[in-house]
Amino acid sequence: MLKRTIELLVLLLYATCIVAYSSFIGENKKRPELFELTDNELAIFKITLSENDAALLKEKGGLGNVMGEDIDNEFKTKKASLVVSIKDTDKSFNKVTLSIGGTSSREFGKQGYNVKIRGGENLYGRTQLRLRPDVRDASFLRSKLVCDIHNRLGVPSISANYALLYINEEYMGVYVLMDAINLSWIEFEYGDKDTTTLYQCKNTKQNLTLEASSTGCENKNEDVTDNSEWIKFLTALDKANSMEDIDDILDVDLFLTEIAFEYLVGSYDHFTNFGHNFYLYKPKNDKWKIILYDFDSEFGQEVAMGYNRVRKEQNITSSEYYAYSVEQTVRSVQRPLLDVLIFNNSTRFDNILKNYITKVFNPATLFPHIDELKEYIRPYVELDKTPNENGKYPGKLNEASDDLSLAEWDANCEFTNIRSIHSSKAYGLKYWILQKYRYVCKTYNMTCDPIYMDENYKYTIDKEVELPGDDIYVGGGPGGPGGPGGPGGPGGPDAPGSSDNSGNPMDSNTISITNTPTSTVTIPITTTTTTTTSKSETSLSIINCIAELIGYKCCSPNNTKVYAHDENGDWGYDFKKGEWCGLTPYVDNDKAETCWSEIFGYSCCKGCTIYEVDNDGSWGYENGEWCGIQSYCSK
Ligand SMILES: *[C@@H]1O[C@H](CO)[C@@H](O)[C@H](O)[C@H]1NC(C)=O
Ligand SMILES: *[C@@H]1O[C@H](CO)[C@@H](O)[C@H](O)[C@H]1NC(C)=O
Ligand SMILES: *[C@@H]1O[C@H](CO)[C@@H](O)[C@H](O)[C@H]1NC(C)=O
Ligand SMILES: *[C@@H]1O[C@H](CO)[C@@H](O)[C@H](O)[C@H]1NC(C)=O
Ligand SMILES: *[C@@H]1O[C@H](CO)[C@@H](O)[C@H](O)[C@H]1NC(C)=O
Ligand SMILES: *[C@@H]1O[C@H](CO)[C@@H](O)[C@H](O)[C@H]1NC(C)=O
Ligand SMILES: *[C@@H]1O[C@H](CO)[C@@H](O)[C@H](O)[C@H]1NC(C)=O
Repeated sequence: MLKRTIELLVLLLYATCIVAYSSFIGENKKRPELFELTDNELAIFKITLSENDAALLKEKGGLGNVMGEDIDNEFKTKKASLVVSIKDTDKSFNKVTLSIGGTSSREFGKQGYNVKIRGGENLYGRTQLRLRPDVRDASFLRSKLVCDIHNRLGVPSISANYALLYINEEYMGVYVLMDAINLSWIEFEYGDKDTTTLYQCKNTKQNLTLEASSTGCENKNEDVTDNSEWIKFLTALDKANSMEDIDDILDVDLFLTEIAFEYLVGSYDHFTNFGHNFYLYKPKNDKWKIILYDFDSEFGQEVAMGYNRVRKEQNITSSEYYAYSVEQTVRSVQRPLLDVLIFNNSTRFDNILKNYITKVFNPATLFPHIDELKEYIRPYVELDKTPNENGKYPGKLNEASDDLSLAEWDANCEFTNIRSIHSSKAYGLKYWILQKYRYVCKTYNMTCDPIYMDENYKYTIDKEVELPGDDIYVGGGPGGPGGPGGPGGPGGPDAPGSSDNSGNPMDSNTISITNTPTSTVTIPITTTTTTTTSKSETSLSIINCIAELIGYKCCSPNNTKVYAHDENGDWGYDFKKGEWCGLTPYVDNDKAETCWSEIFGYSCCKGCTIYEVDNDGSWGYENGEWCGIQSYCSK
């Protein structure tokens, strides 16, 4: 029934609003046919699995936060079949591999999927595809917008559009459909079959020095054992003293264009900050080219996760992260390549940056595209946020996970900053663009659009869902953002005070190491203020959760939904009693293991939500600081 409704919806939309929104991308680049075909109509993916596999998929997809290398948590089957319908044409594939994709995004409710078409067939020019729910991004537009910007500029990039997914006839919701960079992608794009020179830099801290990246980045061709060309490249970068030295081996204009992109969107998840999520590829008889991937954290989405470290090291008081200079954002990470390419003489980079602003990163160009994309996906986003008669949402396998609301989607596409699922700030998409545009225009003395440079330019903020102020929510008790009806907040745990902005652990080599266990797993009772004292007579003899230490009860085992987060961990809400309750288990300091992340200058987390994994271990993010995940979490 639902399925029929949706197909009808698709048909209606197709019939009624033929908006050629591909006009934004223009003619600079030929995209694969799959993406040209789906510009104005969603692809419908229908996957068929055996009953066993379907049950397994639900089980693994419901596990939640399972980062790491545990094969038991993975889901992958080679026995899937697939029918893709685009514009009334069905394409069937019987040899298909389906797996649950994504790493840190496994924590969310709706899971992402990787699809691989085998047997020598392809779907309009692609064999490897990703379907991503982009739960982290309230606007659901960031990945698509970034791909479109890249393609408009003619920069090597994956493409994106939207698709609907059914698994064994069950509607699983709307996804961002993207291609994936791999050997087959290179062959499609460059005609270079089984390339031996495609490296993926997935681990953090990849500064493209021989020391870090000779082993830190991985050749995507499993048959390659000889990495001498890569080593030669990195060695040459290490030795380079001038732009000319690098111009010979690296596509410098492309590289600087991507650095300009990272700067403009406030990216922390690529080369400059975390040092990952990029490829380097050398076409035959050409220079090495950088290709970025993973675009759900741009335009001020949780930007503090990387930029709070910049803020601390550069002694910046302002938390308006769009108003940081190139020098500030790049200097605080050690990227020797950028010393040569930018800081020794910034003329070339400055021109590329200004050009980026003029050509695409400006409100007059981006806002209309955001508007058309937003209206295009609106009905599917609405469906995704509507529970069925059993209270279930399409494709949501991990029921314990939090979701952002329809109001937050609507507002975050515009100018409203909201609190992300991780209690970090997610700038309004248009707000970030407007402010960054103004900042760069002023800083570089550019002549820019007077409409948007005008400080009186009018825009609306949705106060109902707005996160005012700094990173992490501030003010009184959590107002229950996103909660059904929103538990009224009063009596809730106090929001943390302004957080000490620590760095991120991804570049721990640059952070002073301290041995003073400032706040390992001690419970900061002292920082909790008066509003809770009347209740704090709870016996402290057996403490089960941190909340008990400040006079609240622990949530019943059934009640696992997180409505708020502060220095006392995760908070749930007991709707029957109308009370906040604690979710984060209490671990006695004396009995707890020593905190492994202290030697890197970070305390250990109280909660168990993993956000990033690197060679040092698993990292969480609490109260605006990175922290080490403790081993009790794996129990
Ligand atoms: C990339 O291609 C290789 C070789 O075909 C394959 O083994 C690998 O699983 C692919 N990786 C991804 C992420 O699809
Ligand atoms: C930031 O302040 C510290 C301590 O005062 C100082 O050592 C450091 O040089 C300052 N950094 C910058 C970039 O100004
Ligand atoms: C590059 O990264 C490696 C590994 O993190 C680190 O040891 C090295 O100091 C870095 N190089 C520079 C110049 O920052
Ligand atoms: C910067 O340029 C000067 C000459 O203008 C050169 O001597 C120096 O090695 C360069 N440094 C870097 C890091 O490129
Ligand atoms: C800086 O680079 C520009 C070209 O990118 C060049 O014209 C200029 O002479 C350089 N400046 C110095 C001081 O070397
Ligand atoms: C912009 O103009 C100001 C004032 O004339 C000047 O100090 C500054 O150096 C200029 N900035 C750039 C990037 O040219
Ligand atoms: C917990 O869940 C079980 C089964 O789902 C139910 O029987 C029980 O009443 C629930 N307990 C509470 C306190 O909600």
